[in-house]
Amino acid sequence: MNTKRNKFYITTPLYYVNDEPHIGHAYTTILADVINRYYQSIDYDTFFLTGTDEHGQKVQEAAKKNNITPIEHVDKFVKRFQDTWKNLNIKYDDFIRTTEKRHTDRVQEILNDLFKKGEIYKNEYVGLYSVSEERFITEKEAEEGNFREIKKLKETNYFFKMSKYQNQLIKHINTHPNFIKPESRKNEILSFLKNKLQDLCISRPKKRLSWGIELPFDNDYVTYVWFDALLNYISAIGWKSNDDQFNKYWPADLHLMAKDILTTHCVYWPTMLMACNIQLPKTIFAHGWWLMENQKMSKSLGNVIKPLDLLNKYGADALRYYLMKNMVLGQDSSYSYESFVERYNADLANDYGNVVNRITILIEKNFNAHCPEPGNYDNKELEIITKAKAIPATVDKNMKNMKIHDALESAFSLIRLINKYLELKKPWKLVKENKDPKSPAATCLYLSAELLRISALLLKPIMPSKTKITLSALSQSDIMSREFGQLIPNSKIKSPGSLFPRIEE
Ligand code: MSP
Repeated sequence: MNTKRNKFYITTPLYYVNDEPHIGHAYTTILADVINRYYQSIDYDTFFLTGTDEHGQKVQEAAKKNNITPIEHVDKFVKRFQDTWKNLNIKYDDFIRTTEKRHTDRVQEILNDLFKKGEIYKNEYVGLYSVSEERFITEKEAEEGNFREIKKLKETNYFFKMSKYQNQLIKHINTHPNFIKPESRKNEILSFLKNKLQDLCISRPKKRLSWGIELPFDNDYVTYVWFDALLNYISAIGWKSNDDQFNKYWPADLHLMAKDILTTHCVYWPTMLMACNIQLPKTIFAHGWWLMENQKMSKSLGNVIKPLDLLNKYGADALRYYLMKNMVLGQDSSYSYESFVERYNADLANDYGNVVNRITILIEKNFNAHCPEPGNYDNKELEIITKAKAIPATVDKNMKNMKIHDALESAFSLIRLINKYLELKKPWKLVKENKDPKSPAATCLYLSAELLRISALLLKPIMPSKTKITLSALSQSDIMSREFGQLIPNSKIKSPGSLFPRIEE
C-alpha cells in the first residue's frame, strides 16, 4: 500500500528575546501547538517551528546596560521563552535562534546571492527613521502617529529591490485566496499595495548598530533585523544545508502571528522569496490581539499578564483551554481574571470534571473497576450515538477552517451530551436494580465511557495532559481511533480524582 503521509509545516513569529513572555506570545504559540497536535492526530507528518529574534538595537542596548555582551544577554534571556513553552506543554520540533550559525550562514548566503544578482544595491537615503521600530518610515506613516522617536536620517545603505515585485505580489494575492487570512487582513494588504511600494533598506551601518549579521559584501554594515529574522522560516528546516528536509516541508502551510506584523510577513517576506526563486508559503494567518481593559498588552504600557502566574495555579491545560475558547480567531479579545474563573468553573470543573468523575467512580464502585459489557441500545441511546458519531467530522471541518473555538465547542458538545444522557438515565439509580453484564446500567456506563473516550481524543490537542489522564483512567491511552465502539469491555477503569478542582473565590 502506498501510504505517503500529508505534511504540515507551521510556524510562530520569532519573539523578541528581550521581552518577557506574556499571554499574547503564549496565545500564538499555544494556537500553533494545538493546530500542530491536531494535524498529528489525523496522521499528518508535521513540523512545528518557533524561536527567538535576537539581533537589533534593543538587545545591544539592554546588554550594555547590564554590562554584559549581547550574546551573553540573549543566552540568558532565551531561557524565559524556552521554560515558558515547556511549562505550557508546547511540543515544537525546533526552536531557532537568529544568532545560531545555521541561521546566520544562510542569511549571508542569501544576501550574497541577491547582491550578485543585482537585487540589492547601495544608495544614499534621507528619510524619517523611527528609533523605537528600528526602521525607516514613510511620511504617511509618520503622520498617522503610530511611531515613536522619529528623526530625520541621512545614511548610505543597502536596499533590496522590493518595488520590482509589487505587481507579482498583487497577482499572487488575488489568485491564491488562502494566501492571507482572514479576508479582512488580505484587504488591508491589498489596499496598502495600492500605493507605490518602496525598496527595502536592509542594512544598518555598524557605527550605529553592531549587533547583527554582517553583510557578506560590506563589513561596515549589519543586516536589518526583519530581513534576518524572516529567513528563519527556511533556514530552520535546512534550506541549502539539508535539501531533503527542506523539500519535504517547504512551502510552509501556515505562518501564524497577530495582526501587528502583517506587512512584514505579507509584503517583505513574499518579495524576498520571489527574488530568491523560492515558493511562497501557503497561508499567512493573522489573529487579533489580547487586550487588557481594551488596550493591547505591552511592556511599555505595563499591562501584561504573565501566563506563568495562571499556569502555576491552575495548570497548563486550563490556560490553554481558556485562551483557545475565549478568542474568536481574527478578532480581538479582552482578558480578565474573572472571565478565566468563569470559564474554568463552568466548562472544566463542572462539565468536563463531572463527567469524568461520575463515570469512573460509578464503574469503580459497581463494576469492580472494570468496563461493563453493554447490552442492546434503546432508541434514545441510538439517537445519542448517531449525534456523537457526527461530531468528529464537525471538529475536523472547523479545525481545517481555522475555527478553533467552534471546533472546541463541537468537542464540548459531546461532553454535554454525555452529561445530559447521565441525567436522563440516572445510572446511579440503575445500578441499584441490576448490575449484570448487558443490564441497562452496564449499557449506560459503557456508552458514557466510550463517548468520554472519543471526546478526550477530540480535546487532546487543546488539553494534552488532562485528556491523557482521562484516557489512562479508561485504560485507553494507546487507542487513538475516534470511531465509535473501540472501548474494550472488561478493561480496567480507575477514577483519576478531581481533574479541575473548582475555583472558589
Ligand atoms: N520579532 C518579531 C517577529 C519576527 S518573525 C520573523 C516580533 N516579535 S514580538 O515578540 O513582538 O512578537 C509579536 C507576536 O507576538 C505577535 O505577532 C503575536 O503573535 C504575539 N503577540 C504579542 N502580543 C500580543 C497580544 N497582545 N495579543 C496577541 N498576540 C500577541 O514581532
